[in-house]
Order: sequence, then structure tokens, then C-alpha cells
Amino acid sequence: MIPPTIQTDRNFDDLATRFARNIYGSAKGEVRLAIVWEHLLQTIPELCAGEPLRILDAGCGLGQMGLKLAKLGHELVLSDLSEKMVKETGVLFKKELPEAKIELLHKPVQELNSKELGEFDLILFHAVLEWLARPEETLKHLTHLLKPGGHLSLMFYNRDALIFRNLIRGNWHKAESDNLQGDEGGLTPYHPLTLEEVESWLQRGQFEVLSRAGVRVIYDYMERRIRDKRPVEEIIRIELKYARHEPYLHMGRYLHLVAQKQAS
Ligand SMILES: C[S@@+](CC[C@H](N)C(=O)[O-])C[C@H]1O[C@@H](n2cnc3c(N)ncnc32)[C@H](O)[C@@H]1O
Repeated sequence: MIPPTIQTDRNFDDLATRFARNIYGSAKGEVRLAIVWEHLLQTIPELCAGEPLRILDAGCGLGQMGLKLAKLGHELVLSDLSEKMVKETGVLFKKELPEAKIELLHKPVQELNSKELGEFDLILFHAVLEWLARPEETLKHLTHLLKPGGHLSLMFYNRDALIFRNLIRGNWHKAESDNLQGDEGGLTPYHPLTLEEVESWLQRGQFEVLSRAGVRVIYDYMERRIRDKRPVEEIIRIELKYARHEPYLHMGRYLHLVAQKQAS
């Protein structure tokens, strides 16, 4: 159920700096990018087949995943509700891949439509769903921009991992309450979601889930003094080993699904 205080989607204008520092300025972000990247490449072989695909990164944030895809030769449209994030994405591309064919849009997902943008082979919707006032409705709108047979890469904040984290920290009252939302201004999202609920939305939307992975199934549970001593390459290696396997995948701070839109 949507907490009564949350009526609007979370614009990251005021969180951009903290997001860049706390998430992508640390091993957390590197692990997150590496797991999602490997999972995408393994599940969608077309990404490395040499033909450019049309890809939409909706809620692109700082644009790192779009950049990796553009480096493979794909055509990218990147959009975000936050003007600051869109600007940061522009700066990143200018620095790293100035020749890339990209379109940057300062627009919420709800304002994107196939009449203006055409249809896409792949849509990324990473870590946005949990910041929306109406996640299912917004996801449904977004998937209208996907071609039949096209792929959706959906990553979201895992409610069960958040409950578990509260349990092991002794925050039992919070874990047992329905309201897991973080403090205002923090990076714990409005609506952590369960695998079951998101998969039921995808099923209703005529999607087949091709593959599932947990993102940070180990790292987030390690004691800081231990994990800080491990090289990030080692952490990524071990995360990759367990990310797609039961029961570990369910422990991921995020869950990453790759799904395919069925031809109607
Ligand atoms: C946690 S960040 C994730 C960014 C990026 N996808 C990533 O994985 O690093 C969430 C992003 O969603 C954006 N956002 C929130 N609501 C949105 C909406 N309705 N339409 C487009 N972007 C939205 C925020 O501004 C923010 O940049």
C-alpha cells in the first residue's frame, strides 16, 4: 500500500551529489554495475551481436549503464525527472564518448510516448520503481514504448532484503511494521518491492521473465572491517558466482529481472 504521505515521484535533484558519492563513489556502485552488466550481456546475446539496438534508459540517473551500452555501439535515449541528473549524464558522455548518438531528455517516464520517440528494442528501468508514487501504473505506461519481442531490464529495491537487514540490526519494530520507507532526504526508497509483486505485474503485462539476479547478495551483509579489506574484483567475482542462484539471489539488496515482451 502506498504510504499516505507519498504522492509524487522522487526527483533526485537534491540527492544527486549524495547518490554519486554514497552509491557510485564506493565499491557498492561498482558491484552493482558489474552484476547488472554481466546479467544483461548473458541474457540478451543481441547486445553483442554487432547490430545497433535502440535503447531507452528511463530514470537514467548519472548515465553509467547507458554509457556502457553506447560503447557497444547502441543508440541511446536517456531520460530523467531530475534536471541535475540529466546534466550529469550529458557531462559523462561528453567526457567519455563525445561521438555517441544519444538523446537526453529532461522528462518523467509518464511523459514519454512512442509517437514521439518510436519503439525500443530494450528499456532499462533501474532503481526507479521504488521511488514512484504509482509503480505498477508507471511501469505499464513505460512498457508501451517497447517493441513486441523487446526486452525490459528492471532493477528494484528488494523489500525482503530490507526486512532482513532490519531484523539483523535489531530494528524488529520497523521490520514488523508495514512502513519500511526511509527518512525523508535519505537513500532508502519509498516503496521497496517484493519479487512476487513485481513478477505478477510483469505477468499481467504479458512479459516472460527470462532471468533473475540478486545484486549484492553478500557484500551488504559482510562486516565492514572484513569487506573493506577485500579487493573489489574479488567481491565482484564472488557476487557473480552466487547472484543468479537460489537461495542467494533473494538476498540481493536489489533484484534485477530481464523480461521479454510477448508478441500479442
Ligand atoms: C536511484 S536513482 C537510479 C538511477 C539509475 N537508473 C541507476 O541505476 O543508477 C533513481 C532515479 O529515478 C529518477 N526518477 C524518479 N521518478 C522518475 C520519473 N517519474 N521519471 C523519470 N525518472 C524518475 C530520479 O530522479 C533518479 O535519478
